[in-house]
Amino acid sequence: MATARVLNCVPSAISFDASETVTVSDKATLDALNEATAIVRRGECVAFPTETVYGLGADALQPSAVLSIFSTKGRPSDNPLIVHVSSRAMLASLLPQNYSPSPTYAKLMDAFWPGPLTLLFPADGTKVPSEVTAGHKTVGVRMPAHPVGRALIALSNTPLAAPSANSSGKPSPTRAGHVARDLVDRVPLILDGGACQVGVESTVLDGLNDDGKLRILRPGGVTVEQIQALLGQEGPEVLVHRRDFADAQLEDAPTTPGMKYRHYSPAVPVVLLRTTSPPQGTEEVSIEQIIDSMQSCDKRRVGFMALSDSTIQPPTLDNVEWHFFPLGPLAVPSVTAQRLFDGLLTLESLGVDLILVEAVPEDREGLAIMNRISKAATVTKWLKP
Ligand code: TXA
Ligand code: MG
Repeated sequence: MATARVLNCVPSAISFDASETVTVSDKATLDALNEATAIVRRGECVAFPTETVYGLGADALQPSAVLSIFSTKGRPSDNPLIVHVSSRAMLASLLPQNYSPSPTYAKLMDAFWPGPLTLLFPADGTKVPSEVTAGHKTVGVRMPAHPVGRALIALSNTPLAAPSANSSGKPSPTRAGHVARDLVDRVPLILDGGACQVGVESTVLDGLNDDGKLRILRPGGVTVEQIQALLGQEGPEVLVHRRDFADAQLEDAPTTPGMKYRHYSPAVPVVLLRTTSPPQGTEEVSIEQIIDSMQSCDKRRVGFMALSDSTIQPPTLDNVEWHFFPLGPLAVPSVTAQRLFDGLLTLESLGVDLILVEAVPEDREGLAIMNRISKAATVTKWLKP
């Protein structure tokens, strides 16, 4: 395939009315969207922005189109895809005839759609191809909030199956340039809608269990605190996978990122830095010791991703060239989320030999951030005070 074309879109030129109909007021943006729509109709993939990360989309209703997503990414075929819709009517067209969402789902959709929340629904095999669900009984669906992504779905007039637009195992792209570098000759077209505002993927929520509890399979852009605040004290219990529940079947099947396959890893070693007290028997080390132990060459280029008000001081070392990528203030984890994948991918493209990333508290967006960093990291080190 030839090199991907990158076409600029102006998000502010796109609007949706109350009946979820799209209007595009900028000619170049409309032309780009029409070009992308034609590719979707042909059954090929297009890279497009969502508010979380860039997606690699294809017509969710054409099995061969869905298969081309897997081959483009090098994705294992047993990992199900999220289906993206532009309207509630499109959601309804995917669901079993007599199914209606629970009051809790209705509340969640009213509050967080369009937005970074994926809900699991019962899958109707006559409507959603098994290539999308990887044979699971459920299908994950979300309505993206990014005007360009949502407009592409609306104009294509079909739901789009879309994983993140990266080679399997790499950090998710949050800028068109990240996609271009990774999938350059594997996609015909990348719609550029600017940097993604959320920066980590959607929260994947399973509310289909008989016990009525909500299970977060993947923490993401909608925080557990936001869900709990919406549903209130009387609302259902919200459980986070691995923190509050384990599920052998889930861990065996690759139904959430990083459980079975390697994820989010740049081509460079990533070290997670912790300043908390280490587990018993683990020695605390200095940053200099970490760098010495990771690299044997004379000159080291080291990426440093830490909070802008971090207590960690990178030492001045003769043989180290530092590349700083600040992650925003401790008090605002949404900024850290927005910058995380951008930092890993930017530092990787600068050709650093090693990336050091500071751990953050696991509240609000911090839960999703630590979920991703832990999977990206080659090793965790506890720093000497
Ligand atoms: O924000 C996002 O969710 C982005 C953008 C492009 O929308 N998409 C994304 O897709 O992150 P992907 O494929 O990289 O991650 C989706 C995860 C998969 O790892 C998959 O295991 C899980 O959601 N998933 C999808 N369908 C599922 C299902 N039926 N049951 C359980 N997990 C599911
Ligand atoms: Mg992904």
